[in-house]
Amino acid sequence: MDQLIIEGGRPLRGAVRISGSKNSALPILIATLLTDEPCRLGNVPTELRDIKTTIRLLEALGKKIAVRGASVTVTGSGSLKTQAPYDIVKQMRASVLVAGPLLARFGLVRVPIPGGCAIGLRPIDIHLKAFRDLGAREISDHGDVILSAAPQLRAGRVRFKFPSVGATEHVMMAAAVTPGRTIIENAAREPEIEDLQDFLNKLGAAVKGAGTARITVDGRRQLRGAAHSVIPDRIEAGTYLIACAAAGGRLELRGARARDLSAVIAALRKTGARIAETKNGLSVDMRGRPASVSIKTAPHPGFPTDLQAPWMALMAVASGASIVTESVFENRFMHAAELASMGASIGVAGGQAAIAGVAGLTGAPVMASDLRAGAALLIAGLAAKGKTTLQRVYHVDRGYERVEAKLRAAGARVRRVNPARRRK
Ligand code: EPZ
Repeated sequence: MDQLIIEGGRPLRGAVRISGSKNSALPILIATLLTDEPCRLGNVPTELRDIKTTIRLLEALGKKIAVRGASVTVTGSGSLKTQAPYDIVKQMRASVLVAGPLLARFGLVRVPIPGGCAIGLRPIDIHLKAFRDLGAREISDHGDVILSAAPQLRAGRVRFKFPSVGATEHVMMAAAVTPGRTIIENAAREPEIEDLQDFLNKLGAAVKGAGTARITVDGRRQLRGAAHSVIPDRIEAGTYLIACAAAGGRLELRGARARDLSAVIAALRKTGARIAETKNGLSVDMRGRPASVSIKTAPHPGFPTDLQAPWMALMAVASGASIVTESVFENRFMHAAELASMGASIGVAGGQAAIAGVAGLTGAPVMASDLRAGAALLIAGLAAKGKTTLQRVYHVDRGYERVEAKLRAAGARVRRVNPARRRK
């Protein structure tokens, strides 16, 4: 298995190009199931493992896919399978999002229920209740859920108990091919929802309100094909901003959008980082040690849970104490113990972590437990003195394209090794 070797303690300098958003590309690729006509998607982070998995999923369901660099063409009309393969859903929970489009188009779908993962139980009850509210019947069978709607789903009103990102996307997609008006209340407001709305409208649906808590979808039985370019990855951009604040230096993030990162930029400014919008994106300039700043994660526009772990790595080297509160996921502090092995002082109780910043971290062998925990350890490795060996890099590869190449271009000493391959 690949490892990253990081020789830390060097400031970052240079420019990094931000890739297309993983969490936007994923539902948009799945939304191509709504039409029989060709779709051409640009700025897709095709090197990410999760995007490769999504492409395999679409192929397993009957679509044909051509990938060229960051552009993906999806074709294939007519017969699609209405059963999602277990081995793919097991690898990537977001695969369940195929259920809604297939149910809405064909009146029947069978999908495995994804289990928990390192960051918590992650049930799909909000998704299932919404489909029941739109007239679906639900049967559980050997770990699968079978949803049926005869003759088809009914447009209507859905109100979420929590603004789930996945459930919002899921219902938007299904409603787009369900004639009549569907209203989603307490919808998630993430930028990825707005990107999906743009794509669905290009397909010929009429979707309004993304970015607010109330989304209206006027569905049409038949949608056409479309071309669309995916928005930049705000979480990748936020990770590099935080990395530069932790390691010091000056970095330009080409393609990053300030408006998607307002809570993160506000918190970073309080640490002493100077952040500015440039012609090409965003720049960050950090001199000296960061000041400590407490944060609490919340649905957008709050501080994103996906940057909680990177933030903890930054606070580990801040001057003073801070509290990091995780309010979106129940178990997203696996990185705390690994950061402690590098010299960080962190105490975790329930959904809160108390961090006493230390003057410096020391490189150590550490292990990524999930994608963003991996990003946090990478940041800690960049800020630490000495050598850090990050294991289970495959987690990082789910969400960061060419991470070592991008960091190297910014002056970091990072290389990928595979000890097993070397021994052969
Ligand atoms: C999306 O996951 C993202 N994934 C996650 O990014 C991100 O952390 C999360 O939104 C929150 O911003 C993708 O977009 C592919 P949710 P999603 O439904 O849709 C609970 C990353 O690192 N919940 O908003 O699964 C759930 O357990 C990933 O890139 C229910 O209780 O998130 C969680 O505590 C990880 N019942 C909370 O809501 C449900 O039916 C938020 O989940 C659905 C969710």
